[in-house]
Amino acid sequence: MTAQIRLPMKRRQFLKNAPLSAAGLLSVPVFANYQDRKDPTSVTKSLIKPLVVCTWNFKNATAKAWEILSNHGTSLDAVEQGVMVEEADPTNETVGLGGRPDRDGNVTLDACIMDKDGNCGSVVYLQNIVHPISVARKVMELTPHIILAGKGAEQFAYENGFKKTNLLTESTKKQYEAWKTTSTYETIINIENHDTIGMLAIDGNGDLAGACTTSGMAYKMAGRVGDSPIIGAGLFVDNEVGGATATGVGEEVIKTVGSFLIVELMRQGKSPQEACEEGVRRIMKKNQGRTDFQIGFLAINKQGETGGYCVHPGFTYSQFTNQGQTEQTVESYYKK
Ligand code: GLY
Repeated sequence: MTAQIRLPMKRRQFLKNAPLSAAGLLSVPVFANYQDRKDPTSVTKSLIKPLVVCTWNFKNATAKAWEILSNHGTSLDAVEQGVMVEEADPTNETVGLGGRPDRDGNVTLDACIMDKDGNCGSVVYLQNIVHPISVARKVMELTPHIILAGKGAEQFAYENGFKKTNLLTESTKKQYEAWKTTSTYETIINIENHDTIGMLAIDGNGDLAGACTTSGMAYKMAGRVGDSPIIGAGLFVDNEVGGATATGVGEEVIKTVGSFLIVELMRQGKSPQEACEEGVRRIMKKNQGRTDFQIGFLAINKQGETGGYCVHPGFTYSQFTNQGQTEQTVESYYKK
């Protein structure tokens, strides 16, 4: 295997946190709108750093990432090791070990990772491996490719020391057996679809990285791949601008290349909050009247400002800064 592929990368910036939930441990700093959004590339340093955020209240994941960041680790190590906490947790039935299977009973995992230089790695339809995010990082660092799929990805994982593991737990097996008796395929908002941990971090050097990992939609068709391992859809990071990640029904996120869109909106001067709102609005414009799916976007900019927005109430994110750890509840397109 040879050198990694390098992608071109770019810039940028902004403000104002969503309200804190009661679960917040400490208040999050309120950031000033200190910079001209018309020229996001003018800012090269983060004002809030280090910083880590991730979709949903996966607070053990942000705590792990924070441990790395606060010990002068890189954002890349922080996001990888942060999401690994959830991949290894058999009680998290949306990611890694214990993830819910497809309709044939197979647990298939998707993940991607992206660094400050725009390098990225991804695995899709990976089976029998607890940490797809680490395989994705190895794809990025050890191969000339960006995406490995299925058996090829699994073989690559074994060649790099990953162990074969049965990912179906007693709990998910029982649920799957019950599902087979009904075989309905309706998505359940904030349950079946909060299937993804997307994490974004800024390290002490002000460099950004992101990771995204999931077992995908429960009881999906065999072979289905969602947005999470698709660079630009489930995750995108531009070290000069910011990063974005997504959770929810991947098909809709892919159609708008959601995370790339949000980063580009930030490049054009929008705050993370404004960019996430516009990302959701683009999706809802194409799905007028549809209420049967959830999507949540989460974004940070180069300055450490954060934002999130979702289709239905219920999406939260976990954040860790030197002010402490908080759970943030985000605003939604549809109100309660
Ligand atoms: N957002 C994860 C998926 O749709 O698979």
